[in-house]
Amino acid sequence: MEQLVTSDFRLGIIAGGQLGKMLVLAASNWDVNTYVLDDDAHCPAAPACTRFVQGSRHSFDDVVAFGRMVDMITFEIEDVNIDALRALKAEGRRIVPDPETLAVIQDKGRQKDFYAAHGIPTAPYSLYESSADIRRAVAEGRLVPPFVQKLRLGGYDGKGVAVIESADQLAALLEGPSVVEQRIDIAKEISIIAARNARGEVRCFPAVEMVFDARANLVDRLFCPAGIPDHLQADAVRLATELVTALDLSGLLAVEMFVDTAGALWVNEVAPRAHNSGHHSIESVITSQFEQQLRAIFNFPLGSTRLKMPAVMVNLLGEPDCSGAVRYEGMTECMGVDGVKIHLYGKTHTRPFRKMGHVTVMAPTLEEAMEKASVVKQTLKVRSW
Ligand SMILES: Nc1ncnc2c1ncn2[C@@H]1O[C@H](COP(=O)(O)OP(=O)(O)O)[C@@H](O)[C@H]1O
Ligand SMILES: [Mg+2]
Repeated sequence: MEQLVTSDFRLGIIAGGQLGKMLVLAASNWDVNTYVLDDDAHCPAAPACTRFVQGSRHSFDDVVAFGRMVDMITFEIEDVNIDALRALKAEGRRIVPDPETLAVIQDKGRQKDFYAAHGIPTAPYSLYESSADIRRAVAEGRLVPPFVQKLRLGGYDGKGVAVIESADQLAALLEGPSVVEQRIDIAKEISIIAARNARGEVRCFPAVEMVFDARANLVDRLFCPAGIPDHLQADAVRLATELVTALDLSGLLAVEMFVDTAGALWVNEVAPRAHNSGHHSIESVITSQFEQQLRAIFNFPLGSTRLKMPAVMVNLLGEPDCSGAVRYEGMTECMGVDGVKIHLYGKTHTRPFRKMGHVTVMAPTLEEAMEKASVVKQTLKVRSW
């Protein structure tokens, strides 16, 4: 096997948010030099990486110039200038995962078409060019609420998603090319992170169950093992394996799924990178999702994904009434609870519901971890000065 990683190897990471920071920290264990591209010089990864490069991931010139500085490019986010990646690939540069895979995933419309073409169960959908087209379809009786509208490009953390319960809610429609899909009666939301290397080896992390905060539309809490029967866990792993293989992806694929009230599984969306639902793996799984991402992109053997102990992860979100320079309240009390691991991302300023960090809580039983996580949620607060 080709020896990719040497002490002068430069891994380029596009974007320097918390996922980029945690990837940089994992890479430093192997003496990999990390270069990070982000438009914010104060982004979480900047102080941790070998070299920070200021620039926009949406700019053709910035991405091409960055790509020429490094030996391999990978990502913490899929919303990147694809034409720049294609140009770099044409120069013979290594980009993992491949730009064409990113192009499918960054467009929710192409994602849905991919699922349909590969027989992956997903909510029935249609594509629309504008909100006017959606209104017309409703007026003509071709589309009947309830349904869920999703902008094809650029959505994240619930921004870019509108749930339309009835025809009098059409004012909430978003503007732009969209996927409109059937609303699923969701019993649980789960996620499986699959890793695949260039030799086609695949390993999946155990399913996690995600609980959303309705106010912020953000994951509020997640836990592993998920509260699903073994046969659903096996089906979810099979689906994630099928998808990562069909996409011919090297790296990580985070697969968000719904379990509906009848017990059926539906693929919601995928991300070609580390995911919020895998943060617990840093402490609670033998191989963290970030180490696994590196193993996968470098074509190393993939690491064990065995859960060491039940874990609950809570996102540390900015308090709804606080904006400005950040102040964390309750750190000392939480540090005093066994099994509590606090991760702060290094964002200097908080905003309502901004993701500022996360906490993983481990305990011999999931019930105990849940109780401790509730204490952490009540105690650890992200406020401003
Ligand atoms: N078809 C659907 N039926 C019911 N709820 C949905 C549907 N699609 C999305 N949702 C809800 O909206 C959330 C955000 O949608 P998602 O497509 O995952 O967008 P994002 O990119 O913001 O994560 C989901 O986690 C789920 O709670
Ligand atoms: Mg999602």
